Amino acid sequence: MSLEIYDVVVLGAGAAGLMAAASAAQDGARVLVLDHGPEPGRKILISGGGRCNFTNLETAPQCFLSQNKHFVRSALARFTPHDFLKKVDQYHIRWHEKAKGQLFCDQSAKQIVDLLISECRAGQCKLQLQTTIKNVQRHARGFSIQTNIKEYIARAVILATGGLSIPKLGASDLSLRIARSFGVRIVPTAPALAPLILPDADPSLAGVSLIVEAKVGKKKPSFRDGMVFTHKGISGPAVLQISSYMEKGETAQINLLPDMNAEQHLLAMKHARPKASPPALLDGLPSRLAKAFSAALGDVTLANLPDKKIKALAASIAHWQIAPVGTEGYAKAEVMRGGIDTRDLSSQTMEVMSVPGLYAIGEAVDVTGWLGGHNFQWAWSSGVAAGKAA
Ligand code: FDA
Repeated sequence: MSLEIYDVVVLGAGAAGLMAAASAAQDGARVLVLDHGPEPGRKILISGGGRCNFTNLETAPQCFLSQNKHFVRSALARFTPHDFLKKVDQYHIRWHEKAKGQLFCDQSAKQIVDLLISECRAGQCKLQLQTTIKNVQRHARGFSIQTNIKEYIARAVILATGGLSIPKLGASDLSLRIARSFGVRIVPTAPALAPLILPDADPSLAGVSLIVEAKVGKKKPSFRDGMVFTHKGISGPAVLQISSYMEKGETAQINLLPDMNAEQHLLAMKHARPKASPPALLDGLPSRLAKAFSAALGDVTLANLPDKKIKALAASIAHWQIAPVGTEGYAKAEVMRGGIDTRDLSSQTMEVMSVPGLYAIGEAVDVTGWLGGHNFQWAWSSGVAAGKAA
């Protein structure tokens, strides 16, 4: 099999890999990017509903889950959302800010892929798609990367094949397997930013949406955002956010009326509309949901409902307890949590501390961002950190 020699071989032509490749190549390295897919950046193309939520201006270490919550600090500080935004502006990509600092393309996510490819071209980096990576081993000159096409030799290898979510787009555990083969520890992985399955899901509620405040446990953050009922349970931004924090068997609390004091409001409704039936108490909820939550009160007028029952209903709305049986899995998850253990990586360079020349970036690493552009920012920041160091 013929040999080709590079300074840096990047495994994975996704968000992090392309960013790392461009950074390394523009610093003068001879760079090859390998990917098994038919085109680069496939997750970027489908992200943000096709408009790519490419960063979040409010990104900060607390917007990430990781066994080491300080790990992201250095990379995020050295390549910030404003640094990526400068590139977006340089390529005349028009963008808009949605809620909470979330930046989206006005036109298409493809513009972000085109930006990354142009940046790679500017450094004359080579991109080779539809390549099966068979093995990565140590070599006298660094590493040998065996593929179905050729063997490549490089002094540095950057693991950037992402996480396990959306297998139909080519997700695989390659980076985790290679890391493990070099003795790197792996934090157990699970689907994150995923819809939740409820044991008692009511399919008649599917499609009902509202703003809620959701949280898991006392020490984890709460999220006020949209929720939508599905045939299997619940989804929507607030639910996806708490799914990243949920452990097996854990319950979550959802306030279905986060903008009011439910007890005061329901008691006031009783006095305002004594002849109405129970769903009228829940006029702040979508009507299908109001009917479902008040069904147990029966067909009585509000005047005949004891305050005790109204207070109990208010509590069940303000502290709706859910005990999901799980998530809808990697097929529906936006990201994977867990991955390459940050204890084995330098937070400055993303290099595996025990294997000089081996780097890991992006979603393959045990760093999982909140919904809202934080995951791409991590891909850019970790990519630049590794690309410059490699
Ligand atoms: P990424 O998955 O981008 O790239 C990995 C690359 O490695 C792919 O090109 C893949 O083909 C390749 N690869 C995998 N296995 C391989 C193998 N065995 N051999 C060779 N190549 C291999 N985030 C955000 O911040 N804003 C958003 O709007 C969204 N929206 C969104 C929507 C949907 C539907 C999903 C699924 C995800 C998002 N995300 C997001 C998350 C975001 O897409 C994700 O965090 C980044 O793409 C991760 O970048 P990476 O480069 O690490 O992996």
